[in-house]
Amino acid sequence: MSFGLSRGKTLDVGDIGIELRSLPPCIEGRIDPRQWYPNPTKPFEIEIGSGKGTFLLQESQKRTEPNYLGFEWAAEFYRYAADRLRRNHIPNVRMVYGDATEFLKFWCEDCVADTIHLYFSDPWPKTRHHKRRVIQDSTLEMFHRVLKKGGIVHVVTDHDDLWEWCEEHFDRKASHFLRKDFSPATSSGDGELVGTNFERKYKREGRPFHATTLVRVDDA
Ligand SMILES: C[S@@+](CC[C@H](N)C(=O)[O-])C[C@H]1O[C@@H](n2cnc3c(N)ncnc32)[C@H](O)[C@@H]1O
Repeated sequence: MSFGLSRGKTLDVGDIGIELRSLPPCIEGRIDPRQWYPNPTKPFEIEIGSGKGTFLLQESQKRTEPNYLGFEWAAEFYRYAADRLRRNHIPNVRMVYGDATEFLKFWCEDCVADTIHLYFSDPWPKTRHHKRRVIQDSTLEMFHRVLKKGGIVHVVTDHDDLWEWCEEHFDRKASHFLRKDFSPATSSGDGELVGTNFERKYKREGRPFHATTLVRVDDA
């Protein structure tokens, strides 16, 4: 499928790419993204902010059972990740070009996802930009809605201030999610948590990381 991208550029990303703008208007009803895969009954995992797609590529090759959906709103990274996944012939991965929170809020059906991955999310350090951070009270409520019973959210960051913000939000939504220790991803390398590009870059700089797993509380 060829989708129009910014500045008139297009990229043939095979069946992997979905442009948010090309979806039917959300007033026509919610969408079940599991229907975008050859086998929609498989476990379904979402990554928000896939960057160059390293986690999706590595994890989908190690854990071949789930269907994976990556979101990336930066055109150059979306193009890079989707093309990389296409060239590696990964059949169970799709990439959306657009804002993940917008899709989850306006389009996504309830109770579809087993796991949401959020790795090295943009920290937006200025106070006036905090509203752009992915983790908000409303996002946690939305995660709760789109996750299946017992579904989980993995969060990793290097950023102390963002981590403090996340912890405050997790505490406020304790009726929605229980906290659990984070276990390294199956595809991570020695001493890594997930093995994304940002983790590898920051590890070389000697930065410490924060990580947690949230488990959906069923009767929130
Ligand atoms: C700091 S990078 C981390 C990339 C990758 N997860 C890693 O660890 O290497 C954050 C990425 O998330 C993307 N992003 C941030 N908010 C997003 C959103 N709401 N929807 C889609 N992509 C988003 C940014 O464009 C950026 O590529």
